[in-house]
Amino acid sequence: MIWYPVQLPSWIRWPSHSTVRHVLYGIIIGFSLSLTSTSFALYYQSRKRHRLTTNFAPRPIELRSDEVLSGVTGLIGNTPLVRINSLSDALGVEILGKAEFLNPGGSVKDRVALRMIDDAERMGLLRPHTGSRIFEGTVGSTGISIAMVAKARGYDATIIMPDDVAEEKVKALKALGATIERVRPASIVDKKQYVNLARQRAKNFGKRDKIDASDPTANVPQLITSSSSSLVVTTTALHVGFDMEDPQDNEEFLTKPRGYFADQFENRSNFDAHFDGTGPEIWRQTNGRVDAFVSGAGTGGTIAGIGRYLKSMNENVVVALSDPEGSGLYNKVKHGVMFDRKESEGTKRRHQVDTVVEGIGINRLTNNIDLALPIIDDAFRISDAEAVSMSRYLVQNDGLFLGSSSACSLVACVKLVRRMGWAEGQRVVTILCDSGNRHYSKFWNDEYLRKANIPIDPRIVEDLLQPLPPLEAE
Ligand SMILES: Cc1ncc(COP(=O)(O)O)c(C=O)c1O
Repeated sequence: MIWYPVQLPSWIRWPSHSTVRHVLYGIIIGFSLSLTSTSFALYYQSRKRHRLTTNFAPRPIELRSDEVLSGVTGLIGNTPLVRINSLSDALGVEILGKAEFLNPGGSVKDRVALRMIDDAERMGLLRPHTGSRIFEGTVGSTGISIAMVAKARGYDATIIMPDDVAEEKVKALKALGATIERVRPASIVDKKQYVNLARQRAKNFGKRDKIDASDPTANVPQLITSSSSSLVVTTTALHVGFDMEDPQDNEEFLTKPRGYFADQFENRSNFDAHFDGTGPEIWRQTNGRVDAFVSGAGTGGTIAGIGRYLKSMNENVVVALSDPEGSGLYNKVKHGVMFDRKESEGTKRRHQVDTVVEGIGINRLTNNIDLALPIIDDAFRISDAEAVSMSRYLVQNDGLFLGSSSACSLVACVKLVRRMGWAEGQRVVTILCDSGNRHYSKFWNDEYLRKANIPIDPRIVEDLLQPLPPLEAE
């Protein structure tokens, strides 16, 4: 027993040699097993990543000019991804913007409008050139896209919007022949809120023109049932439903005008447009090398669709939300509660999301926001001053003239890169939703901003881009 170095009290007994040997074998076998399984897991992950990144062969972006496209809808999507040179160089990473402002209707919403109308036609809810009308409640961009696609496909459009959005959106809608109704901004519980009104107008569309007092069904909306509970489709046909036995009845049903409430907030086609379109395009354009995706959320369709697609290809992609002032989403992501500080302070300037940034920010949950929330990893609240600063900085340094939500998301990109401590070429992708020319009257109007007490100061972004001080030696 000489190898036992310590004298133990008599009531404690050293284990026998064979016990010690078995315990040692156990430890060695356990350690080797865990080492082997970890190596297998790492190997499997790297193979999976390799497979995903090589699935799409590197290729130049398809040039649109070398093929003939069918009508204006052929111009939608397949937008380029552009490196934002000033920010990328300053941060040592790749900040890449999906140039959605190049869509024919001028925004990312062209994709959604096209998909909603395509899907409605596929489901037999809409038929072109039947005098049918599409109704939508929107702050503008979606309305313009719907008005454009509607004309291309043989429909009319009625757009209900708040009366405080930038005037150039109204002009574009008028030019596209849409019927416009502008209403006071109101809460979603208010019947006169623009989305509720659009639904109501679509319902009214199905009311019979001539009211026969003896007919109890007269003046009742002729609702067509659809697979989605949120969609409202009405018809002016007397008999709702197919009757294959009676072709005349069928003919009436098929050819009578329909009213269709597109409902981008709840409509799944919104999500699908990005999951099937924008997401795969980004994956192809980056050859699967994406470290993060940053986006704002208005309906949630963009961040949900693209975020979910990218995560389905690589679960490590970080999805981050850029949320403007006055929106409740930031708190929902960070603290699980939909609540904006300004509501408690009573300083709200507008009834809806209180910001000069248009198109993003929301204070209620919708189907598309529900799809987004589980995959959002991080969120940034961006002030109006920061968004304005970014827009001016980008014109000054890159010649990029962008709309407010794009500027907001680019501030969030910078903050995310700083938070992650990235500086080695990591790739952050965001959406450049629309161009500055949609925002002359507010976001790009210095006088308007001064009156609203929003500073115009490119130094805010310059400060964000300052190299971080080196870590102090311990
Ligand atoms: C200019 C602009 N950017 C971003 C968005 C947000 O996109 P989403 O509705 O998919 O969340 C919108 C929505 O209308 C928009 O108009």
